[in-house]
Amino acid sequence: MTDVRPTSGTDTGSTEGVLHTLFRSDLGGHEQVVLCQDRATGLKAVIALHSTALGPALGGTRFYPYASEEEAVRDALNLSRGMSYKNALAGLEHGGGKAVIIGDPEEIKTEQLLLAYGRFVASLGGRYVTACDVGTYVQDMDVVARECRWTTGRSPERGGAGDSSVLTAFGVFQGMRAAAGHRWGEPTLRGRRVGVAGVGKVGHHLVEHLIEDGAQVVVTDVRPEAVARITERHPEVTAVPDAAALVRAPLDVYAPCALGGALDDATVAALTATVVCGAANNQLAHPGVEKDLADRGILYAPDYVVNAGGVIQVADELNGFDFDRAKAKAAKIYDTTLAIFDRAHTDGVPPAVAADRLAEARMAEARATRVPRQAQR
Ligand SMILES: NC(=O)c1ccc[n+]([C@@H]2O[C@H](COP(=O)([O-])OP(=O)(O)OC[C@H]3O[C@@H](n4cnc5c(N)ncnc54)[C@H](O)[C@@H]3O)[C@@H](O)[C@H]2O)c1
Repeated sequence: MTDVRPTSGTDTGSTEGVLHTLFRSDLGGHEQVVLCQDRATGLKAVIALHSTALGPALGGTRFYPYASEEEAVRDALNLSRGMSYKNALAGLEHGGGKAVIIGDPEEIKTEQLLLAYGRFVASLGGRYVTACDVGTYVQDMDVVARECRWTTGRSPERGGAGDSSVLTAFGVFQGMRAAAGHRWGEPTLRGRRVGVAGVGKVGHHLVEHLIEDGAQVVVTDVRPEAVARITERHPEVTAVPDAAALVRAPLDVYAPCALGGALDDATVAALTATVVCGAANNQLAHPGVEKDLADRGILYAPDYVVNAGGVIQVADELNGFDFDRAKAKAAKIYDTTLAIFDRAHTDGVPPAVAADRLAEARMAEARATRVPRQAQR
């Protein structure tokens, strides 16, 4: 489960320090931040709970060699805030949280460190549910789960749901169908030219959906073997050398499925597609790109909305994973994406802004109707 950033307030990188961000700036508002240390194993971690308005905070654990502790805290604050928005629009009974472990996983990740980390997560008593992110894998969650029952993203052998890319791709495809319906009147990609940048775990599943739906697919990837895996199976798929060539190729839809920041000024200016819908997190390279897209008449399906299939999957795991139940929930990404386009039209704002507003409204409603524990007795 990787990072996600809402469009509003995208950067908590204030020069005034993280405590200012946390307690005084508009970008904070986090409920709780926990600093964890276990000297015996070298564990240093930050667990940030942005919101539990909708339920226990859910979000992955990033294991990364941050340049400083300050940078790690900031990342946890940013990422957990993003998870609140993502979980709210995924229709989950979960708030937003995220944890970061400071250090190079190649050097310091050990079973004992992960167990110590699991004990810290367990100490929160279910207010935070963890999962995989950059630098952590299903095998790691299997270890964390030995100390902490609030762990998802485990391997199927240990009762987990395993690889989340299947439902992530399915959700992106639903978002793309909604965008096609909004733009061309029919919720299908039949006969449309769709460019997929990055055909890794999610991208290659997305290509299968597109081909089944009758789209003409163009792909690119920095790994030739990833492209070959597609073109050997589907000779009708064409490949171009890089993402810059893909955005310039004649396309109806552009699907960024590699890294963040795919939609920068040069890309937006060069795009031939009139719909953008892909799996990559944080596609907008900087605030304002969402408006540039709208000004060019390009319909942008917000990344954190359409790529929520993965978090929907790990949330389902908490109830004993049922693929069909999780898939049915991921299918609702179609309706959510349409609702965002409608709200964008009504409010006269880009879809990314409309998405943030809908997420904020759901969280505010939950806060307003929350029954205090004493009143429940
Ligand atoms: N896996 C999930 O469930 C999930 C869920 C939500 C969001 N995402 C996001 O979707 C994106 C893809 O995730 P994934 O799990 O498929 O990752 P992945 O690493 O399996 O696939 C990414 C692919 O992009 C390619 N790539 C990297 N740089 C590229 C470039 N400059 N041009 C073209 N191709 C390039 C890589 O070679 C790789 O094949 C990521 O941004 C990830 O954060 C994934």
